Amino acid sequence: MKNSLAKLLFVVAAVAMLGALPAQAASNLSGDLEIFSWWAGDEGPALEALIDIYKKENPNVNVINATVTGGSGVNAKSVLKTRMLGGNPPDSFQVHAGQELIGTWVKADRMEDLTPIFKANGWMEAFPKGLIKLIGTDKGIWSVPVNIHRSNVMWFVPANLKKWGVEAPKTWDEFFTVAETLKAKGVVPLALAQNWTANHLWESVALAALGADKWDALWSGDLAFDSADGVKVWELFGKVLKYTNSDATSLSWQQATDMVVDGRAAFNVMGDWAAGYMATTKKLAPGSGFAWSASPDTTGEFMFLADSFGLPKGAPHRDNAVAWLKVLGSLEGSDTFNPIKGSISARLDSDLSKYNAYGQSAAADFGKDRIVGSLAHGVTANEGFMNDFASVMEMFLKSRNAQAAAKASQQIAVKNGIAK
Ligand code: GAL
Repeated sequence: MKNSLAKLLFVVAAVAMLGALPAQAASNLSGDLEIFSWWAGDEGPALEALIDIYKKENPNVNVINATVTGGSGVNAKSVLKTRMLGGNPPDSFQVHAGQELIGTWVKADRMEDLTPIFKANGWMEAFPKGLIKLIGTDKGIWSVPVNIHRSNVMWFVPANLKKWGVEAPKTWDEFFTVAETLKAKGVVPLALAQNWTANHLWESVALAALGADKWDALWSGDLAFDSADGVKVWELFGKVLKYTNSDATSLSWQQATDMVVDGRAAFNVMGDWAAGYMATTKKLAPGSGFAWSASPDTTGEFMFLADSFGLPKGAPHRDNAVAWLKVLGSLEGSDTFNPIKGSISARLDSDLSKYNAYGQSAAADFGKDRIVGSLAHGVTANEGFMNDFASVMEMFLKSRNAQAAAKASQQIAVKNGIAK
């Protein structure tokens, strides 16, 4: 009798304890998890919030947050390449959805197929079909998307524009007029940073000059880079560059954003990680502390990119990496990460009440705008083309020769299998 009473008390106590446990029981995974990305310093908080969720679910895993500083992965990508080719992959790494993933790492047969993980977690329905297509081939699905970023955004501080008596330009022609006024007041019209941000600006200018159909045609090989349209892009880009700061190459993208925030420059064209930086790091209120519009002549067009993480073949801690991917793809992970990052969720069931005014407006635009892919952030071309394009850009920044840049772009498009 005594014995069975003790047993009963034990069961009651055990049930009570279970009730006190969090809904998601901690896993018994252990060992390391090395996550590789370029989200260091100011770019770190959103990633750290994801890692916090991971650590709660997997308290015995030692997370190594391996970051290599440098916007858009300028330094991280070459470190990753060395590691992958040397047979020393991290457990999971940041890679852009689209050709950067497919035309680089999947083509080289370095990634694991994640289809079973997508199916087991209901992600075939949770993510838009178009996005799954972008991270997939007929042989599998190769990464887990964490966000949707917008590339073609122009940022400004409303109070500064008011002080200078100008308005945010809707077209490049309007910009050139406004820019003269700003120059006369000693204000840099458009803040620019190191060379990858020139690529970034270029794609917004190209979208403006070409329109969405011809932009797409560049990447399908239907429009030549050295066509009359292609040359026009470089001509317009050269004209825009005249209104940028002369110390651009020595600045990080955050420093160019600071120029706008501090009132040394009026505008910059940058992806909406700048919204994350201004809201999260600079504590500015979206809509009043900083504001935005589509980059000139691209209203109604949403140039997108998506950060994602994959599982390289030979990942040293595969099970820990799979658990990481599950956090990334989850609704909780996504709606924790993106409001901090400045991006919107890649999931269809995201809770928009968790996002600030910028995030909500980006989500609304994503729902109604014409969507095109970003070159500077991996959607439209693989790393081979991107590296070659960086050299073309360097040449143009020195020579400002539109014809030569258009011709060189066509040559690298042929070399990298883009041009027909
Ligand atoms: C992009 C990346 C963004 C952001 C940005 C600046 O390539 O997709 O998430 O990190 O670079 O570094």
